[in-house]
Amino acid sequence: MGERVLIVDFGSQVTQLIARRVREAGVYCEIHPFSRVAAPFLADFAPRAIILSGGPASVTEGLSPRADPAVFAAGVPLLGICYGQQTMVAQLGGRVEAGHSREFGRAYVDVVDDCELFAGLWAKGSREPVWMSHGDRVTALPAGFRSVATSEGAPFAAIADDGRRFYGLQFHPEVVHTPHGAALLGNFVHRVAGCRGDWTMAAFRDQAIARIRAQVGDGRVICGLSGGVDSSVAAVLLHEAIGEQLICVFIDTGLLRRDEAAEVVSVFRGHYNMPLVHRDAGAVFLERLAGVIDPEAKRKIIGATFIDIFEAEAERAGGADFLAQGTLYPDVIESVSVAGGPSVTIKSHHNVGGLPERMRLKLVEPLRELFKDEVRMLGRELGLPDRLVQRHPFPGPGLAVRLPGEVTAEKAELLRRADAIFIEEIRLAGLYDAIWQAFAVLLPVRSVGVMGDARTYDHVCALRAVTSSDGMTAESFAFEHGFLARVAGRIVNEVRGINRVVYDVTSKPPGTIEWE
Ligand code: XMP
Repeated sequence: MGERVLIVDFGSQVTQLIARRVREAGVYCEIHPFSRVAAPFLADFAPRAIILSGGPASVTEGLSPRADPAVFAAGVPLLGICYGQQTMVAQLGGRVEAGHSREFGRAYVDVVDDCELFAGLWAKGSREPVWMSHGDRVTALPAGFRSVATSEGAPFAAIADDGRRFYGLQFHPEVVHTPHGAALLGNFVHRVAGCRGDWTMAAFRDQAIARIRAQVGDGRVICGLSGGVDSSVAAVLLHEAIGEQLICVFIDTGLLRRDEAAEVVSVFRGHYNMPLVHRDAGAVFLERLAGVIDPEAKRKIIGATFIDIFEAEAERAGGADFLAQGTLYPDVIESVSVAGGPSVTIKSHHNVGGLPERMRLKLVEPLRELFKDEVRMLGRELGLPDRLVQRHPFPGPGLAVRLPGEVTAEKAELLRRADAIFIEEIRLAGLYDAIWQAFAVLLPVRSVGVMGDARTYDHVCALRAVTSSDGMTAESFAFEHGFLARVAGRIVNEVRGINRVVYDVTSKPPGTIEWE
């Protein structure tokens, strides 16, 4: 492994953004919980620099989390952000107090001195917008530190110890609301820590291929292709690494979007010349779903059916030693639990989670260090068509969770046609890449309409489009009214069986993105 930065997590909601910004600066980094980072870990990880994240605790309370002393003795540059700055100050002999005035949101800092972090960005005497979110503040600095920026609520909004190369920021440079924040972090990893910034997708690809070969040896790997970005990128990467030792299995559930199955088959068989097991299992899924209305029951049936068919196809293809999964970094990061206690299951997500034990397979997860948009970059690096790489996410249970009520072949077909019109219009309007996810939902409701001189009594279709950065929260996309009216007109005219179209304006929370 080349140069890498360690991010010590104290439980901030935005720790992942620190990692994003550091990687955008071309430096590989990983997030680890504060409780894990002690001397042996540091010796093994060998970071070029360490960043202490923010967090919800207060250092003025006795049992709040602390950085292991080895972090300060590691001899590498250190940047504390918000809580990270406060714990650094408290642990090195300064003082932190509960603030008299809290600062949340947009604030301004006055730059009172030059500093390596500000080089080329902020000059002494300037006033700069930042994003603050803190109640406590530093009131006395440890020996060796000087103040380089102040704000109304924080006399030490930015601090520096040039000798040790330790820095602290009370504000959050990782969020977009601090306009120069990404560049400040860039200065930290490049100028202060001396990282070259040569972590690129081309470099990652070569490393990942070498690692896959080392892990798999001459074993066989089976990979479930869904047509989505993650499994497609994982499959192409594995194919480059181990060629014919890879078996790809694509199960058509009969609940895919229009043309999806044909596209997957043509890309993988045609473009990449990869052996692909393609099983058209629509009839089995529909049969098992007959009469089922409850969303969780649908999800469980689809998950179980998927595993049954996958296992049978894998055996027919001669079995395997490894199962490839498109697990991404956000699923791997061990979050620092703030609230504690188990969380409520909102929806049981469908994946092939039960398979490895059942088939006694080891896991290969070549994307487990990447964020979603890095997976897209890797996909482009591997030559996957843009259309596939930019695709909106699609849930494992497919159209079944966009058909509230019973799932039938007829309803699935109506939905597929309405959905295709919506997506086609979105592409024509040049909006596809601005939207996280857009789709149609066929409601189990009929409404009265009039077409020509005749009365209709047909299905209602709901349209949903959201913006989001990770699917965890989402906002309804604000189309122009004329656009929605055009889509509605086309759907009602072209899809016989739908006579009314509505648009879903609910955000998440309180709604979810999918309807079931
Ligand atoms: P919700 O509806 O929970 O969805 O707001 C958040 C994101 O997850 C997708 N989704 C799924 N993805 N298996 C998946 O692989 C599933 O069972 C599943 N359910 C929802 C959803 O499309 C959205 O992007």
